[in-house]
Amino acid sequence: MLSPLLLLAAVVFHKDIEPLLQKHCQQCHRPGEAAPMPLLTYEQVRPWAKAMRQAVVQGAMPPWHADPAVGKFANDSRLPAEAVEAFRQWVDGGAPRGRAADAPKPLRFTDGWTIGQPDAVFEMPVDFEIPAKGDLDYIHFAVPTNFAEDRWIERMEVRPGNRASVHHIGVYIRRKGSTWLPQLTADGKGLPLRDRTVGRTPVDEHFAMYLPGYGGEVLEPGQARKIPAGADLVFQLHYITTGKPAKDRSRIGFVFARQPVRELIHTVPVGDPTIVIPPGEAEYKSRANFFVSMPLRVLGIAPHMHLRGRSFACDAILPDKSRQALLSVPRYDRNWQRRYVLASPPSLAKGSWIQCRAVFDNSANNPWNPDPTATVRWGDQTRDEMMVGYVDVALPPDAQPERFYVRPK
Ligand code: HEC
Repeated sequence: MLSPLLLLAAVVFHKDIEPLLQKHCQQCHRPGEAAPMPLLTYEQVRPWAKAMRQAVVQGAMPPWHADPAVGKFANDSRLPAEAVEAFRQWVDGGAPRGRAADAPKPLRFTDGWTIGQPDAVFEMPVDFEIPAKGDLDYIHFAVPTNFAEDRWIERMEVRPGNRASVHHIGVYIRRKGSTWLPQLTADGKGLPLRDRTVGRTPVDEHFAMYLPGYGGEVLEPGQARKIPAGADLVFQLHYITTGKPAKDRSRIGFVFARQPVRELIHTVPVGDPTIVIPPGEAEYKSRANFFVSMPLRVLGIAPHMHLRGRSFACDAILPDKSRQALLSVPRYDRNWQRRYVLASPPSLAKGSWIQCRAVFDNSANNPWNPDPTATVRWGDQTRDEMMVGYVDVALPPDAQPERFYVRPK
């Protein structure tokens, strides 16, 4: 509903629009963040007024791709109707500035970290030199934590050193004694690896992620992720070349748990690495199922596909075979990969399944399709595909991930 005041008084920048930008836009639209232009001052905003009107009226900004009819999300970033109306009226009224005295206090942003000051920061041991041209295989670095005991993490954030060159970053936990990537040592060299999953089990957890707009992870009080004693962090970096040589040194920051841990948070990859998408196929369907071997709560889901990804959905299938829809992303946009945080996390009994379903469009009608004549399989590069829902679950604090990944007999 429109506030009656809005109808009476002209909508002006400082009083009406600037607070909305602070609340809904500036976390990305400020220097050093994901968006191409800052929207902090009237001078910066004014040239974008028409584009802003269009973007908010169409729902393109702030970006949000989940079907509102399926589930409720704690991080739903859609603008309330009054805010959309305010943008519309402001632009239609000539985008006036209003009185500077009515401006809200500018937001204060701390040196990049959105999670507050981290207790520990781990970074790549050297700058990685990115060539001017070409496709790079994923680059891997191992960074020892040297934690003498298990550490519990309640906030974390991955920050790229060079946003223009970093496409995305995954940070994994490599447990002591793991057979994954023995050639990857802490000697400081980044290794381009194709056979990068050899020896890896889900216990080598996909722990943290950076993608444009992804932000840090802040858990609820009493929840924490666990880094076992003696584990290494494995940084897996997908660099893109920009025509000029560049350098990057990315890092991850942790805030340790301040209170006793009631729930262990763990990310389960629910994916189908066997996809084979025929040339020209407009509706290739894939599904992946995860067996729930101990009671858990589903906290959030981050779908991941590449250029041919069209839609993605996840359901819980309960032991009585009934279904509960968790998430539906009807028009997947690979530029906007994010974690959808469920507002009321469902509890699933042992014997349930989590099912993710994806549809891929390898036809010439898909404007992002780099090659409709290709047979497309699982792989790192943007021309390859992936199909994974990274599902965050809450487990009892003493749960052992080794015991967690079992299939029913
Ligand atoms: C999660 C990060 C994020 C948030 C929040 C966000 N933006 Fe953006 N915005 C971007 C990025 C990244 C781009 C450039 C890529 C694109 O257009 O998708 C962009 C592009 C735009 C554009 C240019 C579109 C065009 O026509 O080229 C406008 C206008 C815009 N944003 C306005 C807004 C407004 C207004 C808000 C708040 C109501 C907002 N954005 C919130 C990240 C964000």
